[in-house]
Amino acid sequence: MKNTALGYINKQGQVSFTSPSNIAIVKYWGKTEVQIPVNPSVSFSLKHSITETQIAYRYNPEQSSLNFELLFEGKENKRFENKLVTFFNRIHETFPWLVKFHLNITSKNTFPHSSGIASSASSYGALALCLGKIHSQITGTTLSIETISYIARLGSGSASRSVLGGWNTWGKSKLTNSNNTYAINLDKQIHASFKNIQDTILIVSGDEKPISSTHGHKLMENHPYKTGRIAQANDNTNNLFEILKSGNWDKFISLAESEALSLHGLMMSSSPSYTLLSPSSLHIIQLIWAFREKNDIPVCFTIDAGPNIHVLYPAANKIQVREFILSNLIQHCAQHKYINDELGNGPIEII
Ligand code: DP6
Repeated sequence: MKNTALGYINKQGQVSFTSPSNIAIVKYWGKTEVQIPVNPSVSFSLKHSITETQIAYRYNPEQSSLNFELLFEGKENKRFENKLVTFFNRIHETFPWLVKFHLNITSKNTFPHSSGIASSASSYGALALCLGKIHSQITGTTLSIETISYIARLGSGSASRSVLGGWNTWGKSKLTNSNNTYAINLDKQIHASFKNIQDTILIVSGDEKPISSTHGHKLMENHPYKTGRIAQANDNTNNLFEILKSGNWDKFISLAESEALSLHGLMMSSSPSYTLLSPSSLHIIQLIWAFREKNDIPVCFTIDAGPNIHVLYPAANKIQVREFILSNLIQHCAQHKYINDELGNGPIEII
């Protein structure tokens, strides 16, 4: 390949990546602009809940500003388009070529539309990976995974953790290489029993959230429990690192559930106050507690910013827990909907 007079090695091409959604055990809740978290978070990437994005790019000598088309799930989507303009403007410094190339973006999720699963993490993860690949194809410079995570973060904070597989942390913590601008992988320090963690996502409601996470983050700015929350999240992050190393499921269960309920407690005590939980979410939580108490099986829940319940358990207990879910929990889901997911190995380039 020869460098053109304009400095671009390739003038057109096509790239495609999948990127997973992730579920946080220690929650990112509260930020300063642009997506600098007020506390560290820890999550694992999922296997089946993923976004697949493809970008066809073409150099256009006449072009001097952003120029792209987006098809999401086969349809135009003005709201996502507007969000993309903001995102592209944020990443222009890393990708100055953006104004000289026409981009044709198509994106789809493997998880059902309106399943209530947040797709911003997997969507921006896949986009960042595609843009990084285009960058290397047209400039010859390969970007590090840290830079890709940094770019994904500028789309959505939790997306910084979606460009990696396994267990990841984002935000400054006691780990020496942790930082607020990109996520890092923890897999060298994870006990075998957490490497195959299962996550059955119970779809309590597939409706759009009445209050977005972005708005929820904003309400943390003047939250009366802000200082306490930041201290709690730091302690939980440090404790979770030890728990994941040691394989202690009892400690994991109390930390994961306390984090999930704290997140929703923060929403209930915001000003204005709100809740995203529904009666079915609480009913399911109580059924999980009763099942655990009775059977002494390590199973617990976490909850994102929504009413859906993620049921977490080791692969070793899959049969008993799935039986319990089918016979006792799915009747509390919208149209009995659920997704059996588990820890996944991260993004895949589709060639
Ligand atoms: C509750 O990453 O969706 O899922 O940065 O504004 O896009 P923005 O927010 P987002 O917030 C995620 C919040 C959470 C917890 C988490 O994933 O850590």
